[in-house]
Amino acid sequence: MWKVQLHKINYDEREYQAVKEVLDSGWITISQKTQDFEAAFSAFLGYDAQCLAVSNATAALHMALLVCGIGGGDEVITPSLTFIADQNVTQMTGAENVLADITSMEDWSMDPDDIESKITPKTKAVMIVHYAGYACDMERISALCKQHNLLLIEDCAHTPGADYCGPSAQGRPLGTFGDVSAFSFFGNKNIAVGEGGMVVTRNQEVFNKLKGLRSHGMSVLSFDRFKGRAVSYDVSAPGLNYRIHEISSALGLVQLQKLESANNKRKEIVEYYYERLDGVSSVSIPYRHFSRGKPNYHIMPVLLSESTDRSAVIESMKQDGVQTSIHYPAIQNFSAYKDKVNKTPKAEYVCARELTLPLYPAMMKSDVDIVCDALIKALNKKE
Ligand SMILES: Cc1ncc(COP(=O)(O)O)c(C=O)c1O
Repeated sequence: MWKVQLHKINYDEREYQAVKEVLDSGWITISQKTQDFEAAFSAFLGYDAQCLAVSNATAALHMALLVCGIGGGDEVITPSLTFIADQNVTQMTGAENVLADITSMEDWSMDPDDIESKITPKTKAVMIVHYAGYACDMERISALCKQHNLLLIEDCAHTPGADYCGPSAQGRPLGTFGDVSAFSFFGNKNIAVGEGGMVVTRNQEVFNKLKGLRSHGMSVLSFDRFKGRAVSYDVSAPGLNYRIHEISSALGLVQLQKLESANNKRKEIVEYYYERLDGVSSVSIPYRHFSRGKPNYHIMPVLLSESTDRSAVIESMKQDGVQTSIHYPAIQNFSAYKDKVNKTPKAEYVCARELTLPLYPAMMKSDVDIVCDALIKALNKKE
């Protein structure tokens, strides 16, 4: 149906082989491949990061809040330009979301000044998102959390391969700053396994709690019983079932090996987009002229001018065979959150005008031409 679709998985024979190996082994639930994936991800992040593979990033974020002891009566400062999982998991613990706005029309990362202004005696944690794989101001945000004794949770759904550079850190991977961090390996992510995630901490005690939470609070896994290493088990604390399975872990291992070259290809495509969209007056591109480290170019967001009818642009591009998306609809417009969350004027402005263009490692310059020609044609229709 599409000439250029929004995203394409970056799979080849290696992924097929990895899945076949798991199926041939006769054991598909959590065991060795998952341990290998966790070890590889820990080595990849460095900074003594301890990693636990889980069913998805939403589970990882939920676990993060639970191990931080967040619950009824607490407030969590959450992003205003993000996927709804951040708000949902907070609500599921009984805590309240207080949204922090983005910084500016060029920098869509959470504004440290706005975070600071939202801190009250009830605030227990700050949850940040590195939108599109561009780092937040970790210097300021880490200092704020330290100063006010707040836990820091990083939503790293967009970030594999992205890092932060600032006065105190040069090329430090995103996901190694938070008390707990959450990665997503959903089908459209830079590491794509279908459904999967990683919860990360550098604190041994927190890690032990996360391990219990992932699997019913049980002291052993089915695999340990299969291997004859245990007959029964203890349950040391209530837990959930947020386990990943071996097929996802095997895919994750291959995708992790391919990540750097895939992100480099994304970069080339984004740079060609910059070239093609230079001088198109109704379009501006966030993070075009600055960065706080190496991005991983997770998505290609653009901002349409105030006078542009976004729905008409989306429809016109669709007619030309180009799939687009919106990252993200405003939280304030969802029926579950309307009248429940505070206003965030800059993020709401962006939510009403953002358009996400196709981006994936195998994309060709000729695909970018098709997308940009369709976009420019759509913009010219209204002028
Ligand atoms: C910013 C952000 N946070 C959280 C999530 C949730 O990830 P998952 O689908 O792995 O639960 C997503 C997924 O799209 C996301 O984009």
